[in-house]
Formats: sequence, structure tokens, C-alpha cells
Amino acid sequence: MCGIIGYIGKKQAQPILLNGLKRLQYRGYDSTGLAVLDDKGLRRAPSLRIKKRAGKLNMLETAVAKRPLKGKLGISQVRWATHGVPNQVNAHPHWDCTGKIALVHNGIIENYEELKEDLLKQGHKFRSETDTEVLVHLIEKFYRGKLEKAVQQALKEVRGAYAIAVISKDEPEKLVGARFGSPLIASVGKEEGFLASDIPALLDYTKEVVLLEDEEIVVVTPGSLVVRNLQGKTLTKEKVKIRWDVAQAEKEGFPHFMLKEIHEQPQAIRSTLMGRIAESKDEIVLPELKSLEGFLASMQKIIIISCGTAWHAALVGKYMLESNVRIPVEVDISSEFRYRDPILDKKTLVVAITQSGETADTLAGLREAKTRGAKILSICNVLGSSIPRASDAVIYTHAGPEIAVASTKAYTSQLAVLYLFTLYLGGLRKALSAPKIKELILELERIPQCLEKLLESKKIILECARRYYHSFGFLYLGRTLNFPTALEGALKIKEISYIHAEGYGAGEMKHGPIALINPRLPVVCIAPESRVYDKMLSNIQEIRARKGIVISVATVDDKRIPHHSNHVIYIPKVKELFSPLLTVVPLQLLAYYIAAKRGCDIDQPKNLAKSVTVE
Ligand code: G6P
Repeated sequence: MCGIIGYIGKKQAQPILLNGLKRLQYRGYDSTGLAVLDDKGLRRAPSLRIKKRAGKLNMLETAVAKRPLKGKLGISQVRWATHGVPNQVNAHPHWDCTGKIALVHNGIIENYEELKEDLLKQGHKFRSETDTEVLVHLIEKFYRGKLEKAVQQALKEVRGAYAIAVISKDEPEKLVGARFGSPLIASVGKEEGFLASDIPALLDYTKEVVLLEDEEIVVVTPGSLVVRNLQGKTLTKEKVKIRWDVAQAEKEGFPHFMLKEIHEQPQAIRSTLMGRIAESKDEIVLPELKSLEGFLASMQKIIIISCGTAWHAALVGKYMLESNVRIPVEVDISSEFRYRDPILDKKTLVVAITQSGETADTLAGLREAKTRGAKILSICNVLGSSIPRASDAVIYTHAGPEIAVASTKAYTSQLAVLYLFTLYLGGLRKALSAPKIKELILELERIPQCLEKLLESKKIILECARRYYHSFGFLYLGRTLNFPTALEGALKIKEISYIHAEGYGAGEMKHGPIALINPRLPVVCIAPESRVYDKMLSNIQEIRARKGIVISVATVDDKRIPHHSNHVIYIPKVKELFSPLLTVVPLQLLAYYIAAKRGCDIDQPKNLAKSVTVE
């Protein structure tokens, strides 16, 4: 997730672009840049001036403070890196070989490697490692003096997601934008016009915007805008009135980042899967593992290390890897792993899972594993952070920046990567047949849609939050793949509501937690369709027999569960293997709504930090 903004008009572009970037920082913050068309007056031809910096926006602000980029047409971006580390070269804008065209982009170009290969053969020179740069060279390839036409032709060759803003020094009177899969809005005022990823960037200038749809191209000139589809047909677009203030707009109208991020999960999973499934649907494509392929085919053990929510993702990973790849998997909390003198050798793969890529214990664990000869793979959300840099290979989650301290979309994206890795290894090590892989891939691709359905209705969750937000404690029970879901549900409620909660493997209930059951204790039972469904049902009956309050998470159309539960939250029907991607969502929402009822500081709970860089 990155943020882009473009301006054309009578005012100086730079201050407007910098102000817009400030408002978009919540979409990314690893590097920034802007391009302004320097119209040096009538005597000299205009030229594109570009300034970029790695790091936060203040780095760019300092860089342009001394020598501002003068001009009334410009584009800029805050980056959240996905392809190419967050440094100055990879920061946007990118420009073509002639220095005529500049572009900023939010999204992922899936087929950038093929396109880049062709463009290199045609003599184009690349400067960065980004997927984005192919776009500007493609536009250059088609450019015959009409920017809109060239953008249209270039986008027909592209697979993936994009929101772009493009300018050309040969057409100083226009700003061109387009979108597919990533948001883009446009707006015009008196003698000026804007493009932006999101409303906050424009709120200081306008309260009326046009929301662009997929495969639409917009040409903004001072005071007017024209929208066409990729086929060139002119479209009529309505203006939408904005009633939000800046803070509301950053959260897209959600009261907290956590709730927004819970709702972003379908998209975060889609982005994480994007470009990693072969078109034939029978193979996982992970070029990032190429250099380790031989090792992965012959390794004998996997150890996954991580902390907090990422540790729960690791526990789900153990179930999916062991049952599908038939390789032994150990899971360790990073801080335990580093001090327990673990047994590992050159045939061991250590997988470090981390949202931030900076967790001190995970980094130390990884270094410990390295000294003992293991190969390191990391699964991480922040490109270029310390843990991926210390790893032999990395598979990035593409969840976008996660701002709320309690992790939600990073968790389900970590699970999505673990599914990809499982299917990839299953194929590589011939543990899964091609038809089986295809069957599972097709199911995995259905998940974002199922999540959207699940997020549509929150009635029962709200009802449970209303009834039980005063409870002293909660118990969460699950089995096999959903035992970690129980741990994650309990962690979420502890983190943001400050209610004591325990997650347990339901089979362990009789060894302790059953003593806690009483008519005031809500017990969340995760019981989707599965091999252990009947066992879960027995556990639920045991709780009911002791008058505990049962909140079940079950598969839609389950006829038995309602007879034994006080409340049932339904999830769509999916194969058991993928159920953890769905069952966790009602638990995130339950924690959220209970914390809201208790008036807690949801996005920044007390005593917790988003990234723990000390031991
Ligand atoms: C902190 C955060 C958690 C996170 C954990 C691990 O405790 O509050 O949300 O799960 O660190 O962080 P990582 O960045 O390594 O995933």
C-alpha cells in the first residue's frame, strides 16, 4: 500500500504535494519522492525535476527546503515497498529513458519480469529494482505525443494492480491517472485539478471528488477532467461529496485503524496471493525461493520462530506443513528458541515470521540459527527490514502498513504465505499430487470472497460484545488447526480490552480449565466443519452441562451447534485446511467491539508496542 498524489493548476505544486503526502503517510512511510515540471518561462523548454529520499517524509522535506522544485504540475508518492528495497533509487517517481515522462504508482505489477525482459531487449535502460519502472518504460514505448493514448496502450499489457499518476514534459497542460485494483480519486477546482490515492490528501483543497473504477483513465487539466475506459469510450462520472474530516478519512470512516485493518483482510490476502499462482492454477510461483530450491527439496526439518501473533501463525503453519508436506516442523517462541540450545544443523530450515521485520528476539533467534548452519527463510511485511536482510530468502506478505498495535491483517496474510509455502513445498517434494495442489489453490483463491461475506454481518458479534463486555474473563477453545486460533482470539481480547483470557486446545479442557466454567464465563468455541467437529461438540456439551456461556464459531448451515450454544457466529463453508483464515475474524471483531464498549484505547493499548526492538 502506497499513497500517490498529483497536482495541476495555477499554484506551486510542491507545497500541495508535500501536504498531500503528509496526509497519506498512514499508507506507507519507507521512502518518498516528487517530480515537478519546471516551467522556466517562455524562453526555455520545461524540464522534469525529480527529488527522492529513503526514509520518512521529513527527509524529502529537508531535501527540497533549500532548493524548492518550482512548477505548477507535479506528482509524488509515499512508498510502502513491495518490490525493491526501500532506498532512494527505488523510491518513486520513476522516469523513462528520455527524461520526458515521470510516473508514480501504487500496486503490484504481476508480470513485470516478462515485460522488463522485453523492454531491456528493446534497449530500455532501468535504474531501479521496482516493478513500477516497467510501466514508465512501457508508456515511453507507446508515446507518440499523446500521453493518454500511450498510457492506455501500456496498461493493456499489464497484469496486476495499479493506481498511477503520469506527466510528460511535452504535455505540460495535463495530468493523467489510471487505476485497476488500487484506489484512485480525482478532483477539479477552479483552474486546478488533483489526483490522489485517498481522500485525506485532498481534504484541504476540495470536498468533492470523482471515484475512479477499475480500467478507467482520467485526464485532469486545470478546471476539468475527462474519464475514459481502456477502450477509449468517454464515461460520465458523478462527483461524491466528502463529509469526513482528515482523521476520519485516514481511517476511511472507520473509528479505529484496527477495524479498518480487519476489513482490509480480503484485499491484503488478494495482494499476498497476487502473482504467486500460475495461470494454470496447478503450481505456486515463488521466484524468491529459487536460490534455495535444491536445499528445500532435501531439507529434513523446519523450525519456525516468531513472537506474539506471528507465533500463532507459525502454529497453524506446523499443522498445514506437517499434514501436507510430511516434514517435521517445530515451532518456537523466538525468545525461548535463542536460549534453549536447539538441535539443528545444515539440513534444517529456520523460518522467521514477523510483521515488522525488526523484533529483537526473532532477529537474535535467526542469528543463533545461522551460526549453527541452518538456512533462514523469513516471512515479513516490511520490505528491507532487518530480519529479511539477515535471511537467505524472504517471502513478503503484501498486507500494507499495519498501524493498529493489535495485529489482524498481518496475521491472515502470514497465514496466506504459509499456505503458499506449503503448496509450493508439497509440489517440490512431491508430497502433493498436481490435481490436489490445484484443488487447494482453487479453494485458497476463494478465501478473500468468503471473508468479504463474513464481514458483511456482525449482528451476533455485537450482541455478544454488548452482553459480555463486563466479564472478568474469557476462555477460547479450539482443536488442531484452530487451536492456534483460540490462542489468537484470547490474545486479541487481552491486548485491547485488558480482560484476562485463556486459549486452550479443547481436549485439554478436562485437565484444568473445566474448573473455571461457571454461569458468568463466556467460552468461545471454534467449531467449524472438520475431522474434530464431533470432539468439539462434546466439549461444548461439557461446558453447557456446567452452565458456562457458549459462543460458537461454526460453519454456515450447521444444524447441531445451535442446540448447544448460547450464540452462534457462522463462517462460510471452506475446506478444513483453510478455516483458520476465516475463524479468526469473528474473534478479532469480538475483541474490538468489547474494547470499544469498555472505552479502551484500541489502536494503542497500554504497555504495548507495535514493534518490539528490545529484548
Ligand atoms: C508485538 C506486537 C504484536 C506482534 C509481535 C511480534 O508484541 O504488539 O502485534 O505480533 O510484537 O511482532 P512482529 O513484528 O515480529 O510480527
